[in-house]
Amino acid sequence: MVIGKNILTVEQFDKSDIERIISLSETLENNLKSKGESNLLVGKIMASLFFEPSTRTRFSFEAAMQRLGGKIITATGLTSVSIGKGESLADTIRTVERFCDVIVMRHPEIDSSKNASALVKIPFFNAGDGAGEHPTQAFVDFYTIKKAQQNVEGKKIALIGDLKYGRTVRSLIELLIIYGGAELYLVSPPELELPDNYYEMMNHNNVKFVKTNNLNEAIAECDVLYMTRIQKERFDDKDQYERLKGSYILNRQVMLNAKPDVSIMHPLPRIDEIDTELDSDPRAIYFDQVENALYVRMAFLLVVFGKDGALDENY
Ligand code: CP
Repeated sequence: MVIGKNILTVEQFDKSDIERIISLSETLENNLKSKGESNLLVGKIMASLFFEPSTRTRFSFEAAMQRLGGKIITATGLTSVSIGKGESLADTIRTVERFCDVIVMRHPEIDSSKNASALVKIPFFNAGDGAGEHPTQAFVDFYTIKKAQQNVEGKKIALIGDLKYGRTVRSLIELLIIYGGAELYLVSPPELELPDNYYEMMNHNNVKFVKTNNLNEAIAECDVLYMTRIQKERFDDKDQYERLKGSYILNRQVMLNAKPDVSIMHPLPRIDEIDTELDSDPRAIYFDQVENALYVRMAFLLVVFGKDGALDENY
């Protein structure tokens, strides 16, 4: 399948695309560590437009571009650009296109990236569209699982917390459904359950799953515990957020029943879902997960510029 110039949704990938991106990420990690930086994207400029807060996505995209020899221009917050003076997002995007070769955008509205990408000819990345999707994060998470557990097929993977509003976790679930072979434990409070269409997808793709509100059910069984933050900014009812925050917390006591080789993951930022006392536990791999974002986003940048085939000769 041709991945295309825009990375907007997990839906656009098939199993062979996933294998290609993961293999490329692995090569780039090895090359960066053994050979240093590359010049494959010299002469290219990436505009990173983050209209919602970000630490990992923004810095990993920007570092990836620079590690490949490219340059960046950046804006953070809607009021840092002329949207703050009343300009439309469409005019902003058309303007930015004149100064760069690829756009990476995070925006609070669902489908904002899909709509903005239709206005420009250059490659466009969805770096998170409100409670919509976060497709490149799903690959970061997939790559992290594969590195830690050697395989994704045959593994039991618990997705824990806010499965209703959490875009990283829903994008990962969709990627795991497309790839197949893993059994999913979906752990959430009843108010934050995964939307019905994901269950339809799992049934349609013969993906085994367990749906539960009880974290302990997943702890003893699973190879991966993927914790997520309750997405405070997506709640209309702030009292409901107050009731649900802190629903699931991993700490040493809870981990007593976990497998010795379990992988503890979190897309971050965390609030209190993983007690910092677990940070020194060798099974806690969320900061490795952060680093993996660099290699995966380097891979995606090469793919959208059609430069991934040039790796052998030049990097
Ligand atoms: N994982 C993730 O999207 O983190 P940031 O919000 O810091 O980019």
